[in-house]
Amino acid sequence: MLLSPLRLGSVELRNRVVSTAHGAFLDFYRPGEPGDPYIAYQERRARGGCGLIVLQPVHVHRSSQAGGHYVYDADDLRPKLRRMADALHAHGTPVLIQLMHFGGEFRSDARAGLEPLWGFSPALSPTGAEAVHAMTGAEIEELIEAFARTAALAVESGLDGVELHAAHGYLLHQSFSPWANRRKDEWGERHRFVDAVVECVRTAVGDDPVVGIRMSADDFVPSERGGLGPEGLREVAAHLAGGGRLDYLSQSAGSRAAHYARAIGSYRHPPGEWLELAAALKLTVGEALPVIAAGRITTPALAERALEQGACDLVAMTRAQIADPDLVRKLDGAAPGRIRPCVGANQGCVDRMVGGLPITCFHNPDVGREGETAGHAPAARRVLVVGGGPAGMKAAETAAARGHRVTLVERADALGGRLRLVERCGPARELLGSIAWLEDELRRLGVEVRLGHEANHELLAALRPDTVVLATGARPNPDAVDPGDASIPVVSLEAALGTERPGGAALVVDLVGSEEVALTAERLAEAGERVTVATPRPVVGEHIGFTRSVEQLRRLYRLGCALEPSTVLTGVEAGEATTLQVHSGARERRRFDRIVAGSPGLPELGMLEAVEQSEARALVAGDAVAPRTALHAFREGADAGAAV
Ligand SMILES: Cc1cc2nc3c(=O)[nH]c(=O)nc-3n(C[C@H](O)[C@H](O)[C@H](O)COP(=O)(O)O)c2cc1C
Ligand code: SF4
Repeated sequence: MLLSPLRLGSVELRNRVVSTAHGAFLDFYRPGEPGDPYIAYQERRARGGCGLIVLQPVHVHRSSQAGGHYVYDADDLRPKLRRMADALHAHGTPVLIQLMHFGGEFRSDARAGLEPLWGFSPALSPTGAEAVHAMTGAEIEELIEAFARTAALAVESGLDGVELHAAHGYLLHQSFSPWANRRKDEWGERHRFVDAVVECVRTAVGDDPVVGIRMSADDFVPSERGGLGPEGLREVAAHLAGGGRLDYLSQSAGSRAAHYARAIGSYRHPPGEWLELAAALKLTVGEALPVIAAGRITTPALAERALEQGACDLVAMTRAQIADPDLVRKLDGAAPGRIRPCVGANQGCVDRMVGGLPITCFHNPDVGREGETAGHAPAARRVLVVGGGPAGMKAAETAAARGHRVTLVERADALGGRLRLVERCGPARELLGSIAWLEDELRRLGVEVRLGHEANHELLAALRPDTVVLATGARPNPDAVDPGDASIPVVSLEAALGTERPGGAALVVDLVGSEEVALTAERLAEAGERVTVATPRPVVGEHIGFTRSVEQLRRLYRLGCALEPSTVLTGVEAGEATTLQVHSGARERRRFDRIVAGSPGLPELGMLEAVEQSEARALVAGDAVAPRTALHAFREGADAGAAV
């Protein structure tokens, strides 16, 4: 069913695979920005066979405000949308644009005008957001007109239609939610605003273009705090379906930015987590509206099952197609290789978007730079890659795909390098799907992989490579933590995770604010160790992206870990560690059985001299350049492979 066509309003879709709206290049809407990277990004997914693309949301009015989001200028946007529509239509993919207004969410200092946020009622509980200006009737009419005007602009510019963003707690969602709309006038009537927007948008675009709506299937707000819950939201959906003016309903979840962690779940969330809620929505709207189900539908098999069971009519495989834009073409046999899985890292996509950064993917470094992919090499060279972690594997794959003859040697008896640490870290082990996929690709591309092999002079002499990629990683550096009188052992993350039955009390010193330190602390606590995490940074795991840190911190607290931000280790003496809270000045002396050093490693470049003395050209990638995350390593591996 997944690859069968479907009619959406007047538009024919060639399959049921949807790329739902997702912020990727927010600056596309900035007046003066040519917009090429975003067009190339979406064009790549259309070329890969995607059935329907919904563009990232455009703000319909200047009063919708958040840092890094822009108010469009019609004359600037029209030609950009036209180029987008032409690019996607050339591949047979219809394209819609999501229309949105944040309402009382986010901050009023995002724009030079410093206007207040606009909402229905002054206090926007439960988001804890800024105070809101309660719109006058005239201002409400102005916004309805803004939705209609923007929809007309999109359709005039060649798009196939629009999607109204009534999910995630933004203005349209606020309009029918008691937690945000407590008005006593006619705009307090539950469906009044959304009905008016639907009607005006439909009138503005006419009968043919697609007009869809996105709604959360659950707002995750208890009724006593003004939530509608799944039943209340289904009543709204039934009402909208009954109006007969819409062409589809797209399901999501949540009613504030903090709920992204659930709606756009990481590896901590099971695949297809919201399919039951989507099915209940489908049951509610019946044949009146096709439903798009969303939420970690990561494999075609799961998508197929959801369609066959009637849970939905279309499936969002949004991150699945971020990770692998050729998903559909691989499924129907038009492109070679196995589908690169979305492993739920969230590090490259949503967590960068929330941070205001352009999109990429944890293990697909081509994402976000679609226009720049290196082509086939002019001449096949002999390439030796030293190191089988993310950087080395990616370098080998990229070089081999470009036509080079590649040998990869790895000292350990398995591929994956430092990323293998997540093997012991509960659901995070899904990240190793990236390594399994690369292993398959190396096999398919004919890369010779030698495990348990040390690279040395003899190997260089025997292979006589033209290029050597040194992806030799980094070695742990627990010495970054001052051991004082050495009365408490200081161990690396690797050593801590390698302990079979940890017990006693551990002080984890988090010097980097990374996911790997937090996951280690979590694993130790799960295994029974009493864990304290001290970090000089203002929050534990400061550099873990937004969606993951919410759940990481919750997990650590639930496991009983003591989290101590802005805290430094000042000394170790007679089996006791002294910490200093830098703001309060409070010092504490406590006994710990071991100290776990969450410190950056030291680049391992032992082979560099030997390569430089040989005829070969040396390239360095990943932790061997500077130890960071696997996302950095995949990226640098790809760049090294492209540079051969
Ligand atoms: C980078 C990123 C940005 C997103 N931004 C939006 C957005 O602006 N509007 C929206 O309705 N959903 C947004 N989403 C949610 C997606 O549309 C989709 O519902 C979600 O990713 C779950 O589907 P998936 O598991 O197939 O990725 C975003 C998702 C990602 C990954
Ligand atoms: S960064 Fe992670 S979650 Fe996002 S698309 Fe890539 S693999 Fe999926």
